[in-house]
Amino acid sequence: MLEIENLHVSYGAIKALHGVSLKVPQGGIVTLIGANGAGKSTTLRALSGLVKPASGSIRYDGREISKLPPERIVAGGLCHVPEGRMVFANLTVHENLKMGAYLQRDRKWIAEQTEYVFGLFPRLKERENQSAGTLSGGEQQMLAIGRALLSRPKFLMLDEPSLGIAPLLVKTIFERIVEINREQGLTILLVEQNANLALDISSYAYVLETGKILIEGPSALVKADPQVQAAYLGA
Ligand SMILES: Nc1ncnc2c1ncn2[C@@H]1O[C@H](COP(=O)(O)OP(=O)(O)O)[C@@H](O)[C@H]1O
Ligand SMILES: [Mg+2]
Repeated sequence: MLEIENLHVSYGAIKALHGVSLKVPQGGIVTLIGANGAGKSTTLRALSGLVKPASGSIRYDGREISKLPPERIVAGGLCHVPEGRMVFANLTVHENLKMGAYLQRDRKWIAEQTEYVFGLFPRLKERENQSAGTLSGGEQQMLAIGRALLSRPKFLMLDEPSLGIAPLLVKTIFERIVEINREQGLTILLVEQNANLALDISSYAYVLETGKILIEGPSALVKADPQVQAAYLGA
């Protein structure tokens, strides 16, 4: 469904990605792990069209998208939940969800999908009329994911959903990511520093180090790799 080939991205003189290639099959969960500064967010920004690659290709659903503006990419069903969540703090939970659906016209679908999100994350239902700024970090992450689901995505990119969140909520959120993948038929690219959990819920993994893919393989094998264990799993 998505294929990145030999992607190079720079910020001025800083080379953030040097020749990243990766694939995400339709309906899969693939994870991209790596330390702070490895280039994970840059990879997602390039996929969303927020930064323009110096070279390389990005094919999505058979089409080259690396030169398209972000709004065209979003319209194709690629949805990016950025690092740090970025919910509208002054709007209520319900208003945030409505913002996610702003391009959707089918009111019945919006109502059903909103109920689906409340079913996934009952805490959001309980806090429906509270402003998003009053939610905990974990609840804001749930809201950011819920808002993304209301944009009717086909391909969801999650940038470090576990960052700064209480461990118990992280577990819940990861379980829901698996549910969303199964129930909504949504393809997922999960970016994480929390390698352990990300490797448990994904089928295939890439390890990014200073702008290059160092290791890749089925997640269980990557998890068993001594180099990965030493560098990312604290073994
Ligand atoms: N807006 C920016 N301007 C300049 N350098 C940046 C910018 N964003 C990221 N970088 C640099 O690009 C590299 C990769 O960053 P990033 O993609 O954010 O990594 P990660 O998400 O894996 O932590 C880092 O060296 C970082 O300092
Ligand atoms: Mg990042």
